[in-house]
Amino acid sequence: MTSQSAEIAVIGGSGLYALLDKAEEIHPDTPYGKPSDPLTIGSICNRRVAFLPRHGRKHQFAPHCVNYRANLWAIKELGISQVVGIGAVGSLTADIPPGSLVVPDQLVDRTNGRDQTYFEGPNVAHAPFADPYCSDSRHTALEAAERCDWRAVDGGTQVVIQGPRFSTRAESRWYADQGWSIVGMTAHPEVVLARELGLCYIPLCLVTDLDAGVEAGEGVTQEEVMDAFARNLKRLTGVLHELIGLLPPQPNCTCSDLRPAAL
Ligand code: ADE
Repeated sequence: MTSQSAEIAVIGGSGLYALLDKAEEIHPDTPYGKPSDPLTIGSICNRRVAFLPRHGRKHQFAPHCVNYRANLWAIKELGISQVVGIGAVGSLTADIPPGSLVVPDQLVDRTNGRDQTYFEGPNVAHAPFADPYCSDSRHTALEAAERCDWRAVDGGTQVVIQGPRFSTRAESRWYADQGWSIVGMTAHPEVVLARELGLCYIPLCLVTDLDAGVEAGEGVTQEEVMDAFARNLKRLTGVLHELIGLLPPQPNCTCSDLRPAAL
């Protein structure tokens, strides 16, 4: 294995801009342009891990401006098969308070205008996406949290909004009325692009706030999200380390088989 390869990628969300000590920095270019920032590669639990801050280290890319295609392509080029996607999310129900960890199993896309496929023609393919996240590795994430004394919420639907603004109260209530449990801004198209590349995607969603439809007060603010993330960062990093240690060196899931073939 060259130093420019890795087994697992961690994509950090708002509030997680660095993960690895003594890391090698790489500056990939892809057919889709450059990723959000250089990737850092290092070891955690004897596994080669590549870290990429989704929004860039200076948080220079808003959710709708992230080059998701370049990010996932660069990860795939490193020989990686498993991606852990960390995200800050709002909760759509008082039953899931801030400080909760959620491992969702479904996703609803409410974004628009984002580049969401590698198959734009002449090669066309349709990715299976009924279960957007890796069904096997989700359980490994739940187990990792449990081992860190953090009972994560097993499943639920994440609605992905375009942002960068937060939702209105009416939008938020409508999402909750659909039975959706959390709201974020980045899982789409990140998760579907991972699927198109046959990558196994494992979500770790940290609830930073109650979204506007649940909140009696002013609604969500950016400061609230960043503060909540900072308060939970140590705990979240602990779960991440545990998860990396638990993930099998050869994924025993079927995610790579779900990579669609061009028609
Ligand atoms: N990320 C963190 N909190 C959020 C919220 N309430 N809505 C959308 N994205 C978020």
